[in-house]
Amino acid sequence: TDANAQLDAIIAAHQGREGPLLPILHEVQRAFGCIPEDAIRHIAHALNLSRAEVSGVVGFYHDFRRAPEPLPVIKLCRAEACQARGSDALARWAEEAAAGRVAIETVYCLGLCSVGPSAMVGSEVHARLDPAALDQLIERAA
Ligand code: FES
Repeated sequence: TDANAQLDAIIAAHQGREGPLLPILHEVQRAFGCIPEDAIRHIAHALNLSRAEVSGVVGFYHDFRRAPEPLPVIKLCRAEACQARGSDALARWAEEAAAGRVAIETVYCLGLCSVGPSAMVGSEVHARLDPAALDQLIERAA
């Protein structure tokens, strides 16, 4: 897979050097947003370390995460009134603008039908959304 190839390239770039573990972990974290269990196994094998040793180092430094940070969520209303005001096109547009940085979820009616399209971020509701306003929400959430 792509992820494996990327991991191999990162390991290969550091393997011959002294103290390769930390630079490898930093690069993996940067590339994947976390250090997945698979990567720990792979790195341990490549560096002739035990999984426990690599895991120990990952656990010791706060910079390293084992799972990716959960994505911020924007809930976009796609019920009838908002749909009539273009929320479907807005949703497609939002997916592109979010580019995987923000999860765009669907909700059905936020009680703001007369001023839609509307969306909810955390406990805040936003009405009269157009691409520019939604873009701002996405950039703020990302
Ligand atoms: Fe979207 Fe009611 S239909 S807020």
